Amino acid sequence: MKAAVIDSLERGPRFADFTDPVVGDGEILVEVTAAGLHPIVRMLASGGHYGSQGTLPMIPGIDGTGQLPDGRAVYFGGVRPPYGPMAQRAAAGFVLPLPEGLDEVTAAAIVNPGVGAWLALTRRAALHPGETVLVLGATGVSGRIAVALAERLGAGRVIAAGRNQAVLDQLPAAAPATRPPWPRPRDRTASTSSSTTCGARRPRRPSRPSPAVAWRMPRPGSG
Ligand SMILES: NC(=O)c1ccc[n+]([C@@H]2O[C@H](COP(=O)([O-])OP(=O)(O)OC[C@H]3O[C@@H](n4cnc5c(N)ncnc54)[C@H](OP(=O)(O)O)[C@@H]3O)[C@@H](O)[C@H]2O)c1
Repeated sequence: MKAAVIDSLERGPRFADFTDPVVGDGEILVEVTAAGLHPIVRMLASGGHYGSQGTLPMIPGIDGTGQLPDGRAVYFGGVRPPYGPMAQRAAAGFVLPLPEGLDEVTAAAIVNPGVGAWLALTRRAALHPGETVLVLGATGVSGRIAVALAERLGAGRVIAAGRNQAVLDQLPAAAPATRPPWPRPRDRTASTSSSTTCGARRPRRPSRPSPAVAWRMPRPGSG
């Protein structure tokens, strides 16, 4: 099969041939559509993550989306190294059906940062409705999702901090009509529910927007 193959940690991946994965117990074959290109994927691909195994050659990535043999679209993960999702096919350790209306490229991109944001708010911070949430790095993918999630989880105030004012300006302000009808500890008639952006109080360094976060498997003949 064709895949993005890393055979040296000093070089980037190249589009090359790789042996097909052999499906083991509890695994299922997925015809890949897209793979998540998250910070952890970059770190693992360059050998700079504590989970890096150093096995070469390897196919990078940790998760993706694609089709099962019966045609169902799924999100998948649990691919055993040296295999990864940036290939035509992957033997997935787990799959989840995609909800109606969510395209496969977006799904591959948002699950990892979305779960990261979700766990930070619901588990680590154990957010209660009405509380104030400060999101650092709010201009990144996880940060932007965390801002939106905090609103939906009933935060009283969401403060988004980042260095890229243009992206901060794009973050949605709270829309009271869309807020969950959960009781708030403070006066519900007061406008305590608002998104606030901060930052850019000092000269802004040039900042590139967060990169596209899904890698799409090239189709035969697409170059
Ligand atoms: N544990 C988990 O399950 C999990 C899951 C997802 C993510 N994460 C971690 O969460 C972090 C964010 O992930 P992401 O997907 O949101 O990445 P991302 O889209 O690349 O966002 C990175 C954020 O960090 C900011 N940033 C980067 N370098 C900075 C610097 N030198 N000074 C100030 N701000 C800086 C970026 O600001 P600009 O927009 O201005 O560049 C952006 O807001 C990463 O460390 C990732 O590994 C963990």
